[in-house]
Amino acid sequence: MKFFLDTANSEEIERINRLGLVDGVTTNPTIIAKEGKNFETVIKEICALVPGPVSAEVTSLDSAGMIREAREISQWAKNIVVKIPMTEAGLQAVHTISKEGIKTNVTLIFSAAQGLMAAKAGATYVSPFLGRLDDIASDGIQLVSDLREIFDIYDFDTEIIAASVRHLGHVEEAALAGSDIATIPGNLFPKLWSHPLTTNGIAQFEADWQAFQEKQE
Ligand code: E4P
Repeated sequence: MKFFLDTANSEEIERINRLGLVDGVTTNPTIIAKEGKNFETVIKEICALVPGPVSAEVTSLDSAGMIREAREISQWAKNIVVKIPMTEAGLQAVHTISKEGIKTNVTLIFSAAQGLMAAKAGATYVSPFLGRLDDIASDGIQLVSDLREIFDIYDFDTEIIAASVRHLGHVEEAALAGSDIATIPGNLFPKLWSHPLTTNGIAQFEADWQAFQEKQE
């Protein structure tokens, strides 16, 4: 499973990138607003840091506006993926721009039917939102699993991005459910390589080694 970073913060991206773990980046208007910088500047900075796909979301709600924004955003860098919300207008936009070779990430997917529509319209990626489904007592991982099955049965190339990831369990379960990608918030990522028993084990080894050294002196 590929790891995308769900952030527009360049320090977070650089930190994880040093480990060779960043296959791509996803953003949305909320994530961009947190940085307090110009949208185009932030996206271009990220595209220069990460060679993999970088999702930048349109803000228009009508298809003509989405298409116009998508054509402009896609010029910002070679690795741009245009993020489009899952609506009728969004599907129309995806259908048009995917034929022009613009890569798309259809976002705010909450049902298998929505994922199937997006794939049929020509989406490069679909983003089922795990955390937000869990918030309404639904099952985000089951959605990933259903999409995996549908895309395999009908041979869609569309890749699944497990999004709205809130904890380590989501990452592990998305991997087991066959998600192509998990997009992980910058502050959650370090928790993937940490474990209290690892920390305790290191402390214990260090203490035992110190005691052994002191005995030898
Ligand atoms: C990424 O593509 C999504 O926009 C993001 O994961 C949403 O996460 P949230 O539900 O925690 O806001």
